Formats: sequence, structure tokens, C-alpha cells
Amino acid sequence: MLEKIDQAASALARARKTVALTGAGISVESGIPPFRGKGGLWEKYDPMKYAHISAFEQRPDEVWKVLFSDLKTVMKKAGPNDGHHGLFRLEKMGKLQTVITQNIDGLHQKAGSSDVIEFHGTFATQSCTICQRGFITEQIDLAEIPPRCDCGGILRPNVVLFGETIGYDQLKRSQILASTCDVMLVVGTSATVEPAASLPVIAKRAGSYIIEINPEKTPLSYHFSDAILLGKAGSIMRKLVSALEDIL
Ligand code: OAD
Repeated sequence: MLEKIDQAASALARARKTVALTGAGISVESGIPPFRGKGGLWEKYDPMKYAHISAFEQRPDEVWKVLFSDLKTVMKKAGPNDGHHGLFRLEKMGKLQTVITQNIDGLHQKAGSSDVIEFHGTFATQSCTICQRGFITEQIDLAEIPPRCDCGGILRPNVVLFGETIGYDQLKRSQILASTCDVMLVVGTSATVEPAASLPVIAKRAGSYIIEINPEKTPLSYHFSDAILLGKAGSIMRKLVSALEDIL
């Protein structure tokens, strides 16, 4: 493992442009459950029943009661962990340009990362489904569910639900970054949800070195990853940053 961490650190040291792609796994050590696997949200809830746009349109009260209220409670308590801090440290060292995250928890920004593409949107804000007025999620009162705007419209988080498309700017910029980076760090994602899952594939085809951090292998591990660092994001990031500090 140490050898692999050294190889990954050397690739980072040589790189002129590094981009990170993160997923739910990086926030597990912050107390936010992942979607898939043991203890995952989709083990508890059927995503098509609660996280699909048509489910929200047909049964907004149920989606708020079952999924969004839970997310609000979990996210309120969560703070960044060593995985997020490690990525910010890489940015400070001039070794990471942008974080593309599938997460909606805002923890990269809380850790200090300055250029974060929120590929699946953010849970930090909401919009009225009628007048589009914006709201801060933490300030929303859930005494009445679903929460409503003064105009009577139901609020919804500014996240991408199943059946919705990724924002054009987020998608375009992420694809450009993927095709122009020298190193892509892929942290805590099962790499199974498109179009995010294709970003490391685009990067690899354009000649990038792929470093994957995950306690388990993913579909990427077999064909695309150059360095697979098996373990939790927090401890691996600590080791990786420290190996890089020794080189620079
Ligand atoms: P998943 O839940 O699919 O995958 C989480 C990954 O994190 C798995 O590969 C785990 O092995 C890994 N993992 C678990 N604990 C970890 C730790 N401590 N450190 C590092 N890795 C760890 O989450 P995503 O890949 O982010 O989309 O899922 C992608 C999308 O699917 C989500 O953004 C969401 C979901 O449906 C939407 O809601 C649109």
C-alpha cells in the first residue's frame, strides 16, 4: 500500500492539472450515509419511490416526510472530515485545481475548497416550485410538511433528482476538466451513476493518470484506475498528502 501511495504522490507531484471527482463515500466519515451498499440510503428507501422527480411531483408530502426531512437533519450535524480537509490541503499546495462532487452536502466548501462543481446540485438551498424564490434549507421550518413559500408553492431542494438532467454548465465544465487534466483523483464513488461515472473514463482516454480511493473496488478499478488506494478517504488522504509533502 505504501508503495502505491508513493506512486500516486509522484503522479500528483508531476501533474500540472489535477481534478478530483468525489462521491458519497468521502462524507461517510462525517456521518452522512452513502446511497449504495451496507447502510446505504437506497437500502432503506427505493430511490424510484422517493428520489425521482415524478415521485416528488405526485407525492411531495411523502418525499419530504421520508427523505428530505432526514437529509436536513443529517446534513445539519455534519462537518468536513480528513478526506475533505486533505483535498483542500492539496489545493493549498497548488496540486488540485477543482473538485467535481456528486455530493449535495456542501462539505468541500466548508473544508475550504474554492472551486467546487456541484454536479448533482446542493441541498443547502431550496426553490419554490411556483415562483422560484430561493430559501436557505437550514432556515426552513418543517412544522408543516411539505414546506411552502408565501405564494403557496411547495419548496424543493436544488438537487438533481432521478429523471432530471445535470445542469449544462456543470456538465460541460466537468467534461472539459476531465479531458484536460493530467491526474484525476476519484474518491468515494461507486462510479455507477451516469454521466458522472464517465468523467474518469474521459480523463483516462485523454491520457490522465487515475488515482482511486475507496475501501472497495469499483467498475473503474479493473480497466481505468492506475493507482487503487484501498481504504477510507480520511486515512488514505492523510497518507497521500504526507507522501506528497515529502516529495515537494
Ligand atoms: P454510492 O453510495 O453509490 O457509493 C459510495 C462509494 O463510497 C462506494 O463505492 C463505497 O465503497 C465508498 N465508500 C464507503 N465508505 C467510504 C469511505 N469511508 N471512504 C471512501 N469511500 C467510501 O455513492 P455515489 O457514487 O456518490 O445521485 O453515488 C452517485 C449518485 O448516486 C449520487 O450522487 C446520488 C445517487 O443516486 C443522485 O441522487 C442524483
